[in-house]
Amino acid sequence: MHPTIKMTITKLTTNMKTKNYELVASEFSWSISANKTIKAWGFNEMVPGPTLEAEKGDRIVVKVTNNLQEPTVIHWHGIQLAAGMDGTDSVQTPIAPGESFEYNFIVPDAGTFWYHSHQNEAVQMERGMYGALVVKDKDDVLTDGERVLMIDDMKLTSKNEFKQGNFISKWVERHDGREGSTLLINGLENNEIRMRAGQTERWRIINSSSARYFRLFLDGTPFKIISTDGGLIERPVEATDILLVPGERVDILVGPFAEGETFSIDSLPYNRMTFLKSRRNTFASVSVDKAAPSAFQIPKTMRAIAPLASQDATPNRNINFSVGASLKNGIDFLVNGETHASDKPVRIGELQIWEVSNTSLMDHPFHLHGFFFQVLEVNGKAPEFISWKDTVNLPPRSKVKIAWIPGNRPGSWMYHCHILEHHEAGMMGHFDVVGQDSSTANSHNGHHHQHHHLGAHG
Ligand code: C2O
Ligand code: CU
Repeated sequence: MHPTIKMTITKLTTNMKTKNYELVASEFSWSISANKTIKAWGFNEMVPGPTLEAEKGDRIVVKVTNNLQEPTVIHWHGIQLAAGMDGTDSVQTPIAPGESFEYNFIVPDAGTFWYHSHQNEAVQMERGMYGALVVKDKDDVLTDGERVLMIDDMKLTSKNEFKQGNFISKWVERHDGREGSTLLINGLENNEIRMRAGQTERWRIINSSSARYFRLFLDGTPFKIISTDGGLIERPVEATDILLVPGERVDILVGPFAEGETFSIDSLPYNRMTFLKSRRNTFASVSVDKAAPSAFQIPKTMRAIAPLASQDATPNRNINFSVGASLKNGIDFLVNGETHASDKPVRIGELQIWEVSNTSLMDHPFHLHGFFFQVLEVNGKAPEFISWKDTVNLPPRSKVKIAWIPGNRPGSWMYHCHILEHHEAGMMGHFDVVGQDSSTANSHNGHHHQHHHLGAHG
């Protein structure tokens, strides 16, 4: 190896720690409220699974053991890792019942991420196979406390079972995605959050539901958006509501409040053009206890984000999401006219300008695995602020233009709709990230580096 490269690696890894975790997937009883117990599937007998924490640059080693009756595979949503660690059935054999698999990767970015099953998701995730992965950084905003809030909803029978129901409700679920009336934050119904007066907290909010569009609203209390899928934004943005589509994350600053104040965490109606009609729902309540000192401090500029391209950049790829009638399935969810489409490869380091169009009459959350992108425009309009994203909503009959650069992580990757029923129905595209010359030579190199790195510091 070239001496300069060696030096850089040593320098990068001196402060690197290895965080070891163990996740055991199983079925267990979980009480979502005083008299509602479900047969959940999840990790370490918790819904959500344990929050994994690390610092930017750390290595995470997670041993996942599958004690379910069916195979599973775990995806690390938002982590820019090597293709082989992405946790999908395109890059690994799913973990059979009784088997284990060790995931091993570096977390190069600070932010709010999550892990979830990437196998039979419409069943496994619906039952609780998800958890948060929080990556911190020494330059993070200094708040008086942090919380992870994982949003979910479950559709349960009167006996608290996960049944799919009759032919019609099955068809509606395939079309709309599964939404249920059991509303959960961190696996609990009517969760009660207590804050201290005078303090400002950072809430890391993750939409882990199958299909629900969660439009966060705190009874009209303004909050500040500070971070999106790919970490901090440049400056805090004040808002009273924000839409979080399945898979998306947002971090907000809330407070300070006065002692005795109460408010609820609601989701406002959002019409995503489905059969189910959206309404305002309460997910949890917040009450403010007596005051505590505050150390909250926020810089004017939290981070600089250089634009990858201008709004009018010419797309070098067009991708189309559509819904079509099908003789076999009644309805098909398509990418470029196909289910499980295979798309052209992208080259490492080559700027990608993708125009993703949605010609269907309903919304779809577009998710790209393993890389962050910037949204250049939605229907010709630039977003309100620049940010790094891995999930973005495609409104009905829309065109969304994104920019991203494939990093040096060759292999097999994918993008898909994060409404789990649509994903399962095939609304996804597979593509390879390849080297400048040829794909195979480079992916071998990539693996070699990975192992060398491991050997030197593991
Ligand atoms: Cu969070 Cu392939 O998804
Ligand atoms: Cu969809």
